[in-house]
Amino acid sequence: MKKYRVLFVCLGNICRSPTAEAALRQAVTQHGMSDRVEIDSAGTGAWHVGKPPDERMAQAGAVRGLRLTGAARRVEIEDFFDYDLILAMDSSNRADLLSLAPDVESSKKVRMFREFEANADAIDVPDPYYGHGDGFLQVVDMALAGAQGLVEFILEQQGVVR
Ligand code: 4NP
Repeated sequence: MKKYRVLFVCLGNICRSPTAEAALRQAVTQHGMSDRVEIDSAGTGAWHVGKPPDERMAQAGAVRGLRLTGAARRVEIEDFFDYDLILAMDSSNRADLLSLAPDVESSKKVRMFREFEANADAIDVPDPYYGHGDGFLQVVDMALAGAQGLVEFILEQQGVVR
């Protein structure tokens, strides 16, 4: 079966998108689908390229059993050809992705991550970087909820009937 490839995109690739990546990786593993799905994350900005996930974000992830991995990288034009689904963490990331998209087919791959969250109360995952308090934990909980919906969507895309 052809692998389904998902790319999560935020601004810095050190908070929200690595968390969504970890959440989907965990959900896919729990559903026994890890060999059928490929997952990565990237940022629209270049400030943190090469850096590991933000320590505060990693700690919040660990509270819910998520291990954040990888080093920040920037979105590349090739990503629009390589991935099946490119998920923006907020509307500003979405606008940036659409302005980068090289063709119409590519822009169709760009969707909002929270579209996949059942009963989401908003469409953006708020940027926790300059915030205080539980913003990081809220990101983790949105990531976990969205990952569940994404698993269902991917199964559907792969024609798996359950
Ligand atoms: P992220 O969070 O987009 O969720 O990785 C941010 C990380 C860094 C900055 C902004 C947002 N920054 O301005 O450096």
